[in-house]
Amino acid sequence: MPQDRFQRTIHYLRISLTDMCNLRCVYCMPEDMTFRPRAELLQDEELLRLVNCFAGLGFDKIRLTGGEPTLRSNVVELVRDLAQTPGIRELAMTTNGITLKPLARALRDAGLSRVNVSLDTLQPEKFRRLTRWGRIEDVWAGLAAAEAVGLGIKLNAVVVRHQNDREDVVDLARLTLERAWQVRYIEVMPLGNVADFQKTAMVSANELRATISEAFGPLELLNEGRLDGEARVYRLPNAKGTLGFISPVTQPFCAGCNRVRLTADGRLLLCLLRDKELNLLQRLRAGTTDAEVMKAISDTIWYKPWGHGLAQDVRPSRNMSEIGG
Ligand code: GTP
Ligand code: 5AD
Ligand code: SF4
Repeated sequence: MPQDRFQRTIHYLRISLTDMCNLRCVYCMPEDMTFRPRAELLQDEELLRLVNCFAGLGFDKIRLTGGEPTLRSNVVELVRDLAQTPGIRELAMTTNGITLKPLARALRDAGLSRVNVSLDTLQPEKFRRLTRWGRIEDVWAGLAAAEAVGLGIKLNAVVVRHQNDREDVVDLARLTLERAWQVRYIEVMPLGNVADFQKTAMVSANELRATISEAFGPLELLNEGRLDGEARVYRLPNAKGTLGFISPVTQPFCAGCNRVRLTADGRLLLCLLRDKELNLLQRLRAGTTDAEVMKAISDTIWYKPWGHGLAQDVRPSRNMSEIGG
């Protein structure tokens, strides 16, 4: 498996299938966002070829992201091909859930195992405000469909100061009393052209835990405090599900980072929050062999940055929708 110079083993690939989205969440992109022309994006055969190279190097976990990954035409066929790639042990997706209802069964049959669904509030009006365009009923229908076909479910809530930092956080936590889901709270990260807004909007995981335990009593820390992926996990008294806290800003988890990203335009991105990248699309189209592509990937991963530079005010220039979180 590829290693970097800090002895981190890198085996988790997050693939952005498209930079397009059917929502315009306020913390993610401006309303008048423009997207890349199709010809500049990885085509299906190019994507599958790259994934074979990554799997050949030892990558075993893939997460499909966007923009909104379900908007990629033939997403089901892609999932089928990716799931059958030798070496790939886990194939998951991060989605806003809006178009999940008609797709959940086909995605599960094609080999998808889990979905992480973004849901920042349970209030329909506020949901529309935060996403600018979304109908919360569509997300509920998507979640019900995912649950019915046995896809694993986590919810992701990005918490924004003065918008969903109080009752919404408590309402979301309450869901775990009856459902075996993991509800995760994410500190908003500053990147792209909404960075200034994001900086003032961030609410720390510590503050969120205080808000939640005020409502429900003390939270039980699970896994002896070890991270589950990038989340620290807790449980409410007598709950069926769990609460995860993802705190890239106040408690960075870079020491345990095991991932790199492939953007929809075919760049290998070494860190969510750093601009350093390798243009794989260009190499493929220039006729580079698989062996050369694999060598370029592992040589580049060796120089993966230690971590982000948010504390030094270093911000990446891409928007979240181009990277997929
Ligand atoms: P699991 O496989 O369920 O652990 O999924 P995941 O947490 O890896 O994926 P998901 O797409 O649900 O990510 C949740 C949130 O964590 C998103 O807001 C991401 O932006 C953030 N996140 C994921 N990976 C990283 C990372 O490497 N660095 C930082 N800073 N944030 C990350
Ligand atoms: N900070 C933190 N998380 C974000 N997401 C989108 N923008 C941001 C941001 N600025 C989340 C989405 C989704 C995941 C892929 O990234 O809500 O759950
Ligand atoms: Fe990994 Fe960069 Fe995220 Fe840190 S900020 S966890 S190094 S991707």
